[in-house]
Amino acid sequence: MRFIFIGPPGAGKGTQAIRVAEMLQIPHISTGDILRQHVSEQTSLGQQAKVYMDRGELVPDQLILDMVQYRLEQADTSRGWILDGFPRNVPQAIFVEKLLSSTSTEGALKVINLDAPDDEVVKRLLARGRRDDTEDTIRRRLQVYREQTTPLIEFYNSRQQLCQIDGSLSMDEVTTQLKQAVAAV
Ligand code: AP5
Repeated sequence: MRFIFIGPPGAGKGTQAIRVAEMLQIPHISTGDILRQHVSEQTSLGQQAKVYMDRGELVPDQLILDMVQYRLEQADTSRGWILDGFPRNVPQAIFVEKLLSSTSTEGALKVINLDAPDDEVVKRLLARGRRDDTEDTIRRRLQVYREQTTPLIEFYNSRQQLCQIDGSLSMDEVTTQLKQAVAAV
């Protein structure tokens, strides 16, 4: 069981990925969380990544790909995983495809596109107040999402791996829809 959660900032990827991961007993792997851990530990990666994260830009692929590969090689991923916030551009998606074709893990890849309108996600993120949840940075993250991440919708749709979920519903309603989508895999 392998799932990728994509969607704009604030659509609820992290919230829902945690719930589905617990239900399926597979790890929830959030590149944002791993990066924030590096930032708080002031590792070399964290110091480099922080500059981009504070601006709402994507951290360069050369910093991200080794980090993801290392995480996906850990023993707890043998039954599958949920990737939250990765891939975020076409080169990262191609990296996942190559990685999967070189491993023997069984099971289909399903990509959940959790979408919600800009006004809704801005409201949610301003209420959350994470370091990168300022109005300017949220707008930049949304712009980066539109420019670099939305091409993945067609990328995965053309591979018949995409599942659309309405992230503007209540948290529990979204979870109900996700449970149905996951059961259909
Ligand atoms: P990342 O941590 O991935 O942030 P993001 O994609 O902007 O996502 P968020 O965490 O803001 O939103 P979410 O969709 O997970 O929503 P959540 O469940 O938290 O990335 C941060 C930065 O790291 C990037 O900008 C980039 O710099 C870097 N980065 C990360 N991955 C990278 C990669 N692959 N390549 C390059 N750079 C990378 O919910 C948000 C809020 O809404 C919460 O308060 C929640 O309680 C609330 N909420 C959730 N669902 C609902 C609902 N249905 N109704 C009402 N409220 C809700």
